[in-house]
Parts: sequence; structure tokens; C-alpha cells
Amino acid sequence: MTETKEPWSLVRLKKIGDPARGFLSPVETQSDVPFKINRVYFIYGANDPKAERGGHSHLKTEQVFFCVTGQVAFHLDDGENQQDIFMGESPNIGLYIPPGVWHTMDNFSHSTVIVALASERYNESDYIRSYDEFLKKVSKHA
Ligand code: TYD
Repeated sequence: MTETKEPWSLVRLKKIGDPARGFLSPVETQSDVPFKINRVYFIYGANDPKAERGGHSHLKTEQVFFCVTGQVAFHLDDGENQQDIFMGESPNIGLYIPPGVWHTMDNFSHSTVIVALASERYNESDYIRSYDEFLKKVSKHA
């Protein structure tokens, strides 16, 4: 029997503080996330309820996504395993997505802000934007 295990995972940051003064969640490179952070970007202002983002996989880039306010649904697919992960209400919980995972995002609220930490600087040649090409790339029988 072949064992399958999703390559993505949740990252739990420290949540320092209390409800009166608020909380602080630090991220230190290579310890709180499993890579050296070379890029940070934000996704926000998705006003169309049908908005969909992502729709690609990466060759090398590792990322952790934090939904710091609002909500979002991530749909993950490594060619073998699929999972939907809903994020919101917990800014200290991140979603680690390694290379080779097709990911899309939807179900944004007006207030949604996603903070993404990435292992590589932006490079379009690191993207696979065709699902067929992705499946060929990850297929164990190719
Ligand atoms: P893309 O990664 O396709 O966004 P999403 O997956 O959220 O739909 O990027 C959208 C555009 O922004 C695309 O033209 C590339 C550009 N971009 C950068 O210039 N730098 C970056 O770090 C990122 C993530 C995207």
C-alpha cells in the first residue's frame, strides 16, 4: 500500500499578549517558517465575491500564507491529494505551501488581508500556470 501525505501543513506562531492589550505574533526566518524569507507580499481588496486568485504551482518557491484579517479559502492539490482549508479569525496560523502544489484561493471577504512570506524573490519562470502542465510534472507515472 502506498502511503500518501499532503505536502502542505499549518504553521502556528506564538501569540503573545492578552485580549485587553492585544496580541503579537513574531515570525523569524528559518525557525518560525522553514525557509529563508526573501520576499513578503500582501493580497487585499478582493471585492468581487466570485474573485479567485492563485491558479498555479511553483517550481522552487516555498511560501507561508497568513490571513491576518477577514477570511479566505485555499484549495490545495498535489496531483494526488486535495484539501480545502478555510482561514480566518486566527492571524497566528499560517499555511505552508511547498513547490509542486496547485493552489487557488476564493471566498474572500472585503476585509481580507493575506500576508505571504516566500523563499524566493519574484520570478515568473518559477510559476506553472497550466493545470495540465502541472499534472504532467507531478505525475508519478509520467
Ligand atoms: P500572481 O502570483 O499571479 O497572483 P495571485 O496568485 O494572487 O493571483 O501575481 C499577480 C501579478 O503580480 C502578476 O503579474 C505577477 C505580479 N507579482 C509580482 O510582481 N511580485 C510578486 O511578488 C507577486 C506574488 C506577484
